[in-house]
Amino acid sequence: DKGNHRHFMEKEIYEQPEVISHALSHYVDLADHTVRPADVAIDFKALRGLAISACGTAYLAGLVGKYWFERYARLPVEIDVASEFRYREMPLSVDQAALFISQSGETADTLASLRYCKDAGLKIGAIVNVKESTIAREADAVFPILAGPEIGVASTKAFTCQLAVMASLAVAAGKARGLISAEDEKDLVRHLAEMPRIMSKVLNLIQPQMESLSRELSRFKDVLYLGRGTSYPLALEGALKLKEISYIHAEGYAAGELKHGPIALIDENMPVIVIAPHDRFFDKTVSNMQEVAARGGKIIFITDEKGAASSKLETMATIVLPNVAEIIAPMVFSLPIQLLAYHTAVFMGTDVDQPRNLAKSVTVE
Ligand code: M6R
Repeated sequence: DKGNHRHFMEKEIYEQPEVISHALSHYVDLADHTVRPADVAIDFKALRGLAISACGTAYLAGLVGKYWFERYARLPVEIDVASEFRYREMPLSVDQAALFISQSGETADTLASLRYCKDAGLKIGAIVNVKESTIAREADAVFPILAGPEIGVASTKAFTCQLAVMASLAVAAGKARGLISAEDEKDLVRHLAEMPRIMSKVLNLIQPQMESLSRELSRFKDVLYLGRGTSYPLALEGALKLKEISYIHAEGYAAGELKHGPIALIDENMPVIVIAPHDRFFDKTVSNMQEVAARGGKIIFITDEKGAASSKLETMATIVLPNVAEIIAPMVFSLPIQLLAYHTAVFMGTDVDQPRNLAKSVTVE
């Protein structure tokens, strides 16, 4: 049932504040602002490293997770798309754990990577939406994302719930490893707890602008997305979402890679979507934006109030989100990315929930 939404994808985008709140309450104490200890099957304290593997959007969630596990828990993370991971003959050791992320829990390559790690004797964690799935069944520790059924082929709420779960796990791992003080834990969890309310506010705030901007975006054949830090996986996710449902060709790049190739493509026919909250990388990303502007590139700037106030660059559009804590920025900044792809696809008249050639669950290699 789509309720009063035109598509399941739209419904699932708007469900995010509610499902994230539900997911979070499973991993953190929302009143006390403490993390619940991570599953005993994985002893984060003793770990030397983490190997993450997944496909598509779930892989991009894992890429954000890598930044968090490394930053908050000082756990080195190896990450790869499952179709490569399973054949890389990667040296693994039993002091690593392996984490698999899958909405459906049935993705063939992800399952094969899981079995590869299991054979190598690693403890297996699974971040899944479908708790009865094969991947969940074969894991030692299951971390449900509790997003409820996701019908739209383009993953939205599963992505942000995967992120919310991983943010909580990274903080729990950091705590277990003695790296996060009680005070920092309270701060981080308080930010996570505020997120559902902020997401509701953002969804209402940006909806009209996303709809009008998508009309403009639909005129282009190619779009480039840029971001740094955790906004880099978001740039990849933005590009994936746009191409899969609107069929507009899109690429995501780490902003710092711009001058190593993609800058050659910049002209007035290729808008550049820059995802840049006012974080520690902001100034660097703005200087990449300047390089785009100097070549006549059109910029769609997704930033926060601080970022908007401190950049004087002329843009095709600036989407201003509230200033938020760094740990919740990836979830909050996912919203304009999803809505932009959604409205562009609706405007172009594609089959949003069932895009051509795609299946919700990819059970063949
Ligand atoms: O069920 P899974 O999370 O394992 O699926 C992985 C990908 O097939 C999936 O995320 C795909 O990339 C989505 N269509 C993206 O929106």
